[in-house]
Amino acid sequence: MFSLIGIALGATALLPHGDNSMLGTSTGNSERISLAEPEGGANSPGASLELIGKGRELYQRRCGACHSPDANRVGPKHRGVYGQKAGSVEGFRYSKALREIDVVWNDETLDAWLENPPAFAPGTSMGFRLPDAGEREAIIAYLKSLSAASTAGDTE
Ligand code: HEC
Repeated sequence: MFSLIGIALGATALLPHGDNSMLGTSTGNSERISLAEPEGGANSPGASLELIGKGRELYQRRCGACHSPDANRVGPKHRGVYGQKAGSVEGFRYSKALREIDVVWNDETLDAWLENPPAFAPGTSMGFRLPDAGEREAIIAYLKSLSAASTAGDTE
């Protein structure tokens, strides 16, 4: 009786956000509870590598019919697009909408664009929307990693 209470209190104290909803799934191993928080490490290199990997897979599935990192297809190539001015890939025939829009691709502009291209750039020829915010986040992380690799080389 007393020892049970002790474990429950100890475990609660170790939870980073005072979230005790996980207690029910554990048998009192408080160390496990305090470490098992994959969502919390969004800024750690491991977590972002995971996001980039997920983004690469989604990119191939969702965007690969029209885009690739290194070749202009139905849509322009994407290596370096993050941080670049919209409508500026050499040799690609953009719509008037993208040629004239004054936007640099970053987290915010890519997110708005992918959610609804015609709302972001009326008259664009990209007729594809990505309504899932989590998928947009992963794909944007992947596009960002392509830009980092093309300017700074691989870190290893
Ligand atoms: C059905 C074909 C198609 C699909 C699928 C598609 N795109 Fe596009 N994309 C285009 C076309 C065409 C353009 C050029 C639009 C224009 O000129 O108005 C474009 C332009 C872009 C641009 C602007 C590039 C620049 O140089 O300014 C980005 C960024 C982009 N697409 C990202 C994506 C991503 C990410 C996906 C997948 C989630 C995706 N697109 C899916 C056809 C597509």
